[in-house]
Amino acid sequence: VYHTPELVPEIGSPDCAIAVDILRATTTIATALAAGAEGVQVFADLDELMKVSASYPSDLRIRVGERGGKTVEGCDLGNSPFDFTPEVVKGKRIFMSTTNGTRSLQKIQNAKTVLAAAMINLGAVLKYLRATQPETLWIVGSGWEGSYSLEDTACAGAIAANLQDEADFGNDEAVAAATLYKAWQGELEELFYQASHGKRLLNLNGAEDIAYCAKIDVVDVLPKQSSAGFLVAA
Ligand code: MLT
Repeated sequence: VYHTPELVPEIGSPDCAIAVDILRATTTIATALAAGAEGVQVFADLDELMKVSASYPSDLRIRVGERGGKTVEGCDLGNSPFDFTPEVVKGKRIFMSTTNGTRSLQKIQNAKTVLAAAMINLGAVLKYLRATQPETLWIVGSGWEGSYSLEDTACAGAIAANLQDEADFGNDEAVAAATLYKAWQGELEELFYQASHGKRLLNLNGAEDIAYCAKIDVVDVLPKQSSAGFLVAA
C-alpha cells in the first residue's frame, strides 16, 4: 500500500496496481462505467485533456474537470457521481482530470494490470484479485496533493483486510490500512466526515456524495485499463 502517488516507486512494475480515490474520482469512474459509459480516459493535466478530447466527436464525449472539489470552467461535468446517470453517459467517452485521482491512475499506468477501486465496487475488485492472484500488488491511495488521506487508506485497508488471510502480507502501510478499515467498517461515512477532503466536500454541499461513496458493493463493475490511461468495464 502506498498512501499517495508520489510514494509509488519509480522503478519496478507490479502484476497489478490499483488506484483508490474514494472521494470521489474512483467512485465516479465505477459509477460512470456501471451506467454504460464507453470508457474513461484519465489525465493529470487539464490542458492535455482539452487538447486530446478536441479531436473526439463532441456529441460522443464528456469532459470532466475537478480542482479543489469544484467543477472546472469549460468542462461538461464536475466529479459528483450523481451526475453520471445512464441518460447522460451511456455510450459516451469520458475525458477526466481531477486533483489527485487521475494522477494516481496515470502514475501506475505501466503496471501489467491497472484497476480503479472504491468502496462501491469492492466486491468486484476482490473477486478479480482472488481469481487472478497477482504475485505483486500495489494499492495506491490518491491522498490530497501529496498528503495522506483517511478515506483512501480505509479503502486500501478494505482490500487488504479481505486478503489478509490469503496473501503473503505487504508493507506496514498495508497492515495499518487494514487495521483502520476494521476499526471503522460499520461507520465509514462518519470516518469520511473526519477526513480533510470530507470536510472540504461538506462545505461544498457534498453530504450526499460522501454517503454514496461510503456504500459498500453497490455496483458490480471493475474499471480496468485497456490501454494507457483508458479504463473500461471489465
Ligand atoms: C480528486 O481527484 O482529488 C478527487 O476525486 C476530488 C473530488 O472530486 O472530490
